[in-house]
Amino acid sequence: MERRFAGKVALVTGAGTGIGQATAVRLASEGALVGVNRKPDLDAGETLSLIKAAGGEAFDMPADMRDPKAVKAMVAEVAKRGGRLDYVVSNAAINPDLTWEDTSIEAFDDLYQTNVRGAWVVCTEGARQMIAEGHGGAIVMVSSISAHVGAPTQVAYCGTKGAVSMLGKALGAVLGKHGIRVNVVEPGAVATPMSAGLLRAPDALKYYRERIALGRIGAPSELAASIAFLLSDDASYVTSATLLVDAGFIVNAEL
Ligand SMILES: NC(=O)c1ccc[n+]([C@@H]2O[C@H](COP(=O)([O-])OP(=O)(O)OC[C@H]3O[C@@H](n4cnc5c(N)ncnc54)[C@H](O)[C@@H]3O)[C@@H](O)[C@H]2O)c1
Repeated sequence: MERRFAGKVALVTGAGTGIGQATAVRLASEGALVGVNRKPDLDAGETLSLIKAAGGEAFDMPADMRDPKAVKAMVAEVAKRGGRLDYVVSNAAINPDLTWEDTSIEAFDDLYQTNVRGAWVVCTEGARQMIAEGHGGAIVMVSSISAHVGAPTQVAYCGTKGAVSMLGKALGAVLGKHGIRVNVVEPGAVATPMSAGLLRAPDALKYYRERIALGRIGAPSELAASIAFLLSDDASYVTSATLLVDAGFIVNAEL
Protein backbone atom coordinates (compact mmCIF):
# COMPACT_ATOMS: atom_id res chain seq x y z
CA MET A 1 0.00 0.00 0.00
CA GLU A 2 1.13 3.57 -0.74
CA ARG A 3 2.12 5.67 2.29
CA ARG A 4 0.57 9.00 1.35
CA PHE A 5 0.12 10.04 4.99
CA ALA A 6 3.52 9.22 6.51
CA GLY A 7 4.37 11.67 9.29
CA LYS A 8 0.82 13.07 9.37
CA VAL A 9 -1.70 13.07 12.20
CA ALA A 10 -5.43 12.45 11.68
CA LEU A 11 -8.57 12.51 13.81
CA VAL A 12 -11.49 10.34 12.69
CA THR A 13 -14.78 10.69 14.57
CA GLY A 14 -17.13 7.76 15.10
CA ALA A 15 -14.26 5.42 14.23
CA GLY A 16 -15.29 2.45 16.36
CA THR A 17 -17.44 0.97 13.59
CA GLY A 18 -18.40 1.14 9.92
CA ILE A 19 -17.05 3.81 7.57
CA GLY A 20 -15.15 5.60 10.35
CA GLN A 21 -13.40 2.39 11.34
CA ALA A 22 -12.47 1.57 7.74
CA THR A 23 -11.20 5.13 7.27
CA ALA A 24 -9.08 5.02 10.42
CA VAL A 25 -7.57 1.71 9.27
CA ARG A 26 -6.93 3.06 5.75
CA LEU A 27 -5.24 6.27 6.96
CA ALA A 28 -3.09 4.38 9.48
CA SER A 29 -2.17 1.78 6.82
CA GLU A 30 -0.90 4.65 4.70
CA GLY A 31 1.27 5.98 7.49
CA ALA A 32 -0.87 8.44 9.49
CA LEU A 33 -0.99 8.39 13.27
CA VAL A 34 -4.75 8.25 13.91
CA GLY A 35 -6.82 9.48 16.86
CA VAL A 36 -9.72 7.00 16.93
CA ASN A 37 -12.75 8.83 18.31
CA ARG A 38 -15.63 6.82 19.74
CA LYS A 39 -18.50 7.45 22.12
CA PRO A 40 -17.30 7.19 25.73
CA ASP A 41 -19.67 4.28 26.44
CA LEU A 42 -18.36 2.25 23.47
CA ASP A 43 -15.09 0.47 22.80
CA ALA A 44 -12.49 1.31 20.14
CA GLY A 45 -10.69 -2.01 20.70
CA GLU A 46 -11.65 -3.56 17.38
CA THR A 47 -10.44 -0.54 15.37
CA LEU A 48 -7.19 -0.33 17.33
CA SER A 49 -6.55 -4.06 16.77
CA LEU A 50 -7.23 -3.79 13.04
CA ILE A 51 -4.80 -0.86 12.80
CA LYS A 52 -2.16 -2.74 14.75
CA ALA A 53 -2.60 -5.79 12.51
CA ALA A 54 -2.14 -3.52 9.48
CA GLY A 55 1.15 -2.25 10.93
CA GLY A 56 -0.29 1.21 11.66
CA GLU A 57 -0.33 3.47 14.71
CA ALA A 58 -3.35 4.87 16.51
CA PHE A 59 -4.67 5.88 19.90
CA ASP A 60 -8.08 5.81 21.56
CA MET A 61 -9.87 9.18 21.72
CA PRO A 62 -13.17 8.91 23.61
CA ALA A 63 -15.49 11.93 23.35
CA ASP A 64 -19.20 12.45 22.88
CA MET A 65 -19.73 14.50 19.71
CA ARG A 66 -22.76 16.14 21.35
CA ASP A 67 -20.53 17.77 23.96
CA PRO A 68 -18.68 20.78 22.44
CA LYS A 69 -16.27 21.07 25.38
CA ALA A 70 -15.30 17.42 25.08
CA VAL A 71 -14.83 17.76 21.30
CA LYS A 72 -12.61 20.83 21.69
CA ALA A 73 -10.54 19.05 24.34
CA MET A 74 -10.25 16.03 22.01
CA VAL A 75 -8.86 18.12 19.15
CA ALA A 76 -6.28 19.66 21.47
CA GLU A 77 -5.38 16.24 22.86
CA VAL A 78 -4.87 14.70 19.40
CA ALA A 79 -2.58 17.58 18.40
CA LYS A 80 -0.69 17.21 21.68
CA ARG A 81 -0.23 13.46 21.41
CA GLY A 82 0.57 13.55 17.71
CA GLY A 83 2.66 16.72 17.86
CA ARG A 84 0.50 18.22 15.09
CA LEU A 85 -2.86 17.86 13.35
CA ASP A 86 -3.16 17.46 9.57
CA TYR A 87 -6.51 15.82 8.90
CA VAL A 88 -10.01 15.69 10.36
CA VAL A 89 -12.63 13.22 9.18
CA SER A 90 -16.01 14.22 10.59
CA ASN A 91 -17.90 10.95 10.29
CA ALA A 92 -19.83 10.29 13.55
CA ALA A 93 -23.59 10.41 13.13
CA ILE A 94 -26.84 8.82 14.17
CA ASN A 95 -29.81 7.80 12.04
CA PRO A 96 -32.59 6.73 14.40
CA ASP A 97 -35.02 5.61 11.68
CA LEU A 98 -38.04 7.73 12.68
CA THR A 99 -40.98 8.95 10.65
CA TRP A 100 -41.64 12.68 10.83
CA GLU A 101 -44.65 11.99 13.08
CA ASP A 102 -42.51 10.01 15.53
CA THR A 103 -39.65 12.51 15.69
CA SER A 104 -39.87 14.10 19.14
CA ILE A 105 -38.16 17.39 19.93
CA GLU A 106 -35.64 15.38 21.97
CA ALA A 107 -34.90 13.06 19.03
CA PHE A 108 -34.59 16.06 16.68
CA ASP A 109 -32.16 17.80 19.05
CA ASP A 110 -30.11 14.63 19.46
CA LEU A 111 -29.82 14.29 15.67
CA TYR A 112 -28.74 17.89 15.12
CA GLN A 113 -26.38 17.97 18.11
CA THR A 114 -24.63 14.82 16.91
CA ASN A 115 -24.71 15.13 13.13
CA VAL A 116 -24.52 18.89 12.63
CA ARG A 117 -23.21 20.68 15.72
CA GLY A 118 -20.70 17.90 16.48
CA ALA A 119 -19.44 18.05 12.89
CA TRP A 120 -19.23 21.85 13.04
CA VAL A 121 -17.28 21.88 16.30
CA VAL A 122 -14.75 19.21 15.32
CA CYS A 123 -14.12 20.73 11.89
CA THR A 124 -13.82 24.33 13.06
CA GLU A 125 -11.67 23.39 16.06
CA GLY A 126 -9.54 21.24 13.77
CA ALA A 127 -9.18 24.20 11.40
CA ARG A 128 -8.19 26.53 14.28
CA GLN A 129 -5.52 24.04 15.32
CA MET A 130 -4.18 23.68 11.75
CA ILE A 131 -4.12 27.48 11.32
CA ALA A 132 -2.21 27.87 14.61
CA GLU A 133 0.30 25.23 13.44
CA GLY A 134 0.63 27.05 10.12
CA HIS A 135 1.01 24.08 7.75
CA GLY A 136 -2.46 23.72 6.21
CA GLY A 137 -4.37 20.45 6.17
CA ALA A 138 -7.46 18.71 4.90
CA ILE A 139 -10.91 17.97 6.24
CA VAL A 140 -13.53 15.52 4.98
CA MET A 141 -17.11 15.71 6.20
CA VAL A 142 -19.16 12.54 5.75
CA SER A 143 -22.65 13.45 4.58
CA SER A 144 -25.07 11.20 2.68
CA ILE A 145 -27.23 10.77 -0.39
CA SER A 146 -29.85 11.94 2.12
CA ALA A 147 -28.59 15.49 1.42
CA HIS A 148 -30.35 15.06 -1.94
CA VAL A 149 -33.23 12.61 -1.50
CA GLY A 150 -35.90 12.14 1.15
CA ALA A 151 -36.96 8.89 2.83
CA PRO A 152 -40.06 8.25 4.96
CA THR A 153 -38.16 7.25 8.12
CA GLN A 154 -35.29 9.70 7.74
CA VAL A 155 -36.81 13.15 7.27
CA ALA A 156 -34.99 14.86 10.15
CA TYR A 157 -31.79 12.91 9.35
CA CYS A 158 -32.00 14.15 5.74
CA GLY A 159 -32.01 17.72 7.07
CA THR A 160 -28.83 17.07 9.06
CA LYS A 161 -27.07 15.75 5.98
CA GLY A 162 -28.19 18.68 3.84
CA ALA A 163 -26.61 20.90 6.48
CA VAL A 164 -23.38 18.88 6.56
CA SER A 165 -22.95 19.01 2.77
CA MET A 166 -23.41 22.78 2.69
CA LEU A 167 -21.22 23.40 5.76
CA GLY A 168 -18.41 21.50 4.06
CA LYS A 169 -18.69 23.54 0.87
CA ALA A 170 -18.89 26.87 2.74
CA LEU A 171 -15.99 26.01 5.07
CA GLY A 172 -13.87 25.09 2.06
CA ALA A 173 -14.46 28.54 0.64
CA VAL A 174 -13.14 30.34 3.75
CA LEU A 175 -10.34 27.97 4.74
CA GLY A 176 -8.59 27.82 1.36
CA LYS A 177 -6.48 30.85 2.19
CA HIS A 178 -5.02 28.92 5.13
CA GLY A 179 -4.07 25.99 2.89
CA ILE A 180 -6.89 23.87 4.33
CA ARG A 181 -9.05 21.91 1.90
CA VAL A 182 -12.55 20.87 2.97
CA ASN A 183 -14.54 18.30 1.00
CA VAL A 184 -17.68 16.26 1.50
CA VAL A 185 -18.31 12.58 0.82
CA GLU A 186 -21.91 11.50 0.30
CA PRO A 187 -22.23 7.72 0.67
CA GLY A 188 -25.07 5.68 -0.79
CA ALA A 189 -26.02 2.29 0.69
CA VAL A 190 -23.07 0.91 2.65
CA ALA A 191 -23.02 -2.22 4.82
CA THR A 192 -22.44 -0.90 8.36
CA PRO A 193 -24.23 -1.11 11.74
CA MET A 194 -26.22 2.02 10.76
CA SER A 195 -27.73 0.42 7.66
CA ALA A 196 -28.12 -3.09 9.08
CA GLY A 197 -31.79 -2.66 10.02
CA LEU A 198 -32.67 -1.17 6.64
CA LEU A 199 -30.87 -3.94 4.76
CA ARG A 200 -32.61 -6.65 6.82
CA ALA A 201 -36.08 -5.49 5.72
CA PRO A 202 -37.88 -7.96 3.44
CA ASP A 203 -36.82 -7.56 -0.22
CA ALA A 204 -34.38 -4.76 0.73
CA LEU A 205 -31.38 -6.35 -0.96
CA LYS A 206 -33.40 -7.01 -4.12
CA TYR A 207 -34.54 -3.36 -4.15
CA TYR A 208 -31.03 -1.99 -3.70
CA ARG A 209 -29.53 -4.32 -6.32
CA GLU A 210 -32.11 -3.16 -8.84
CA ARG A 211 -31.73 0.54 -8.05
CA ILE A 212 -27.95 0.77 -7.69
CA ALA A 213 -26.25 0.99 -11.11
CA LEU A 214 -23.36 -1.21 -9.95
CA GLY A 215 -25.88 -3.70 -8.53
CA ARG A 216 -24.54 -4.08 -5.00
CA ILE A 217 -24.25 -2.53 -1.52
CA GLY A 218 -20.96 -0.71 -0.86
CA ALA A 219 -18.25 -1.81 1.57
CA PRO A 220 -16.95 0.62 4.23
CA SER A 221 -13.46 0.24 2.73
CA GLU A 222 -14.75 1.69 -0.56
CA LEU A 223 -15.87 4.85 1.25
CA ALA A 224 -12.56 4.95 3.12
CA ALA A 225 -10.74 4.93 -0.22
CA SER A 226 -12.67 8.01 -1.40
CA ILE A 227 -12.09 9.81 1.90
CA ALA A 228 -8.37 8.98 1.75
CA PHE A 229 -8.22 10.34 -1.81
CA LEU A 230 -9.80 13.65 -0.75
CA LEU A 231 -7.40 14.01 2.20
CA SER A 232 -4.35 13.14 0.13
CA ASP A 233 -2.23 15.34 -2.10
CA ASP A 234 -3.80 13.48 -5.04
CA ALA A 235 -6.69 15.89 -4.40
CA SER A 236 -4.45 18.95 -4.03
CA TYR A 237 -6.70 21.01 -6.36
CA VAL A 238 -10.00 19.82 -4.85
CA THR A 239 -11.82 21.84 -2.21
CA SER A 240 -15.47 22.68 -1.45
CA ALA A 241 -16.40 19.62 -3.51
CA THR A 242 -19.05 17.03 -2.75
CA LEU A 243 -18.28 13.51 -3.94
CA LEU A 244 -21.31 11.27 -4.32
CA VAL A 245 -20.12 7.70 -3.64
CA ASP A 246 -23.35 5.82 -4.26
CA ALA A 247 -22.56 3.59 -7.27
CA GLY A 248 -25.29 5.28 -9.30
CA PHE A 249 -28.08 4.86 -6.75
CA ILE A 250 -29.93 8.18 -6.68
CA VAL A 251 -29.60 9.02 -10.36
CA ASN A 252 -31.60 5.88 -11.11
CA ALA A 253 -35.06 7.44 -10.71
CA GLU A 254 -38.06 5.20 -11.32
CA LEU A 255 -39.88 7.36 -13.87
N1 LIG B 1 -24.17 3.15 6.00
C1 LIG B 1 -24.74 3.87 5.08
O1 LIG B 1 -25.45 3.32 4.21
C2 LIG B 1 -24.58 5.37 5.04
C3 LIG B 1 -25.15 6.06 3.99
C4 LIG B 1 -25.00 7.43 3.93
C5 LIG B 1 -24.26 8.11 4.89
N2 LIG B 1 -23.70 7.41 5.92
C6 LIG B 1 -22.92 8.18 6.89
O2 LIG B 1 -21.68 7.55 7.11
C7 LIG B 1 -21.19 7.91 8.41
C8 LIG B 1 -20.75 6.66 9.15
O3 LIG B 1 -21.88 5.84 9.39
P1 LIG B 1 -21.81 4.25 9.28
O4 LIG B 1 -22.70 3.85 8.19
O5 LIG B 1 -20.41 3.81 9.28
O6 LIG B 1 -22.57 3.81 10.61
P2 LIG B 1 -22.05 3.50 12.08
O7 LIG B 1 -23.24 3.55 12.94
O8 LIG B 1 -21.22 2.28 12.05
O9 LIG B 1 -21.06 4.73 12.37
C9 LIG B 1 -21.42 5.91 13.06
C10 LIG B 1 -20.47 6.05 14.22
O10 LIG B 1 -20.73 7.29 14.87
C11 LIG B 1 -20.64 7.04 16.25
N3 LIG B 1 -21.38 8.04 17.03
C12 LIG B 1 -22.72 8.27 17.08
N4 LIG B 1 -23.01 9.22 17.96
C13 LIG B 1 -21.82 9.62 18.50
C14 LIG B 1 -21.47 10.57 19.47
N5 LIG B 1 -22.40 11.31 20.11
N6 LIG B 1 -20.16 10.72 19.80
C15 LIG B 1 -19.20 9.97 19.18
N7 LIG B 1 -19.49 9.04 18.25
C16 LIG B 1 -20.78 8.87 17.91
C17 LIG B 1 -21.25 5.66 16.44
O11 LIG B 1 -20.91 5.10 17.69
C18 LIG B 1 -20.66 4.93 15.25
O12 LIG B 1 -19.41 4.36 15.57
C19 LIG B 1 -22.33 8.67 9.09
O13 LIG B 1 -22.08 10.06 8.99
C20 LIG B 1 -23.55 8.29 8.26
O14 LIG B 1 -24.56 9.26 8.34
C21 LIG B 1 -23.84 6.05 6.02
